[in-house]
Amino acid sequence: MSSPPFDEQIFVTRPLLPPLAEVVARLEQVWASRWLTNAGAQHEQLEAALRAHLGVPELALFNNGTIALMTAMRALDLSGSVVTTPFTFPATPHSLVWSRIEPIFCDIDPVTLTIDPVAIEAAIRPDTSAILGVHVYGVPCHVDAIQQIAGRHGLKVVYDGAHVFGTTINGRGIGTYGDITMYSFHATKLFHTAEGGALACQTPAMKASIDHLKNFGILNQEEVDVPGINGKMNELQAALGLAVLDHVSEEVTARRAIVDRYRARLDGVAGLTLMPRLPGVTESFQYFVIRIDREAFGRSRDEVQASMKEANVLTRKYFFPLCSDYPCYNRLDSARPQGLPVAHRAVQEVLCLPIYGTLSLDAVDRICDLLLGLRR
Ligand SMILES: Cc1ncc(COP(=O)(O)O)c(C=O)c1O
Repeated sequence: MSSPPFDEQIFVTRPLLPPLAEVVARLEQVWASRWLTNAGAQHEQLEAALRAHLGVPELALFNNGTIALMTAMRALDLSGSVVTTPFTFPATPHSLVWSRIEPIFCDIDPVTLTIDPVAIEAAIRPDTSAILGVHVYGVPCHVDAIQQIAGRHGLKVVYDGAHVFGTTINGRGIGTYGDITMYSFHATKLFHTAEGGALACQTPAMKASIDHLKNFGILNQEEVDVPGINGKMNELQAALGLAVLDHVSEEVTARRAIVDRYRARLDGVAGLTLMPRLPGVTESFQYFVIRIDREAFGRSRDEVQASMKEANVLTRKYFFPLCSDYPCYNRLDSARPQGLPVAHRAVQEVLCLPIYGTLSLDAVDRICDLLLGLRR
């Protein structure tokens, strides 16, 4: 190995931490109000600010993205089966199974790594009630094709948008596509509330239904009409979120410079493929993912990951393994590897490189030197 190792571990990501005094100032407001949860002042302020930031008509905050996604299935009254992608985080299919809905896994587009519209249409069954797409690493699904398929078959469309905070398509917030889009505000995400999430939807009636479900289905002090859940974001999370939101644009600027440097150094290298930049789509800068072709690069993704770890650079095999290979899903007909060749290849090739606002460009250069020095 020609490049020297880093003295300290470089993490894959680090959370955006606003100045502590700014968080404390907001917490003082919470203390003064003596109101800790249930649609308090911080919650209401964050919900309105994020609705504007994300360019969506309606938004409901949650205590995490997974509970939000589970609630989306109930709000749309989905049942039977839902066509989805295996190339995702476990929360995506789990959110279906918690409503006793069967995930039907279908293959992905080899370029965008998002669910393949041709495969969706072939996978639809008589009991299918929706399509659940994932905007992978900030690259949007084929939203127009998916909407057309949904229209032809009378299906709902849900998006797992955990990776697309702030992404727009031709100036339109990505959460305006489909019936419901979930956002995750986990600490590993660009914008975060330590743990948290949201559902974007298109109508006030749907927002009211989501708010009702996330508060146990309580109508009033004496009436509960549906088996809801506790999905509420509390005031401490919301206060942190407001402080983080004030610094999101600086974080985006820093990450944009990092992505530009990675691209300048790695684009066109034999054996490496970068995620596509699509016309009209703003990037989310949440992950920087490369794909490593073992033959052309001379090293497998796993070998690269191990060597980088020896040099104190942590990377992440994200996503790995495919959800369809988990023991809880691998007996489904749709989980058979023969039906998912593109996803099976992608899961062996993807590697997330470090990206966070405080990562210096010098460190990015050294990470690239290290990676390029591993070629055979
Ligand atoms: C694609 C995807 N879906 C869902 C989730 C779950 O979100 P949360 O951690 O907010 O529950 C994640 C989290 O990393 C994710 O990456």
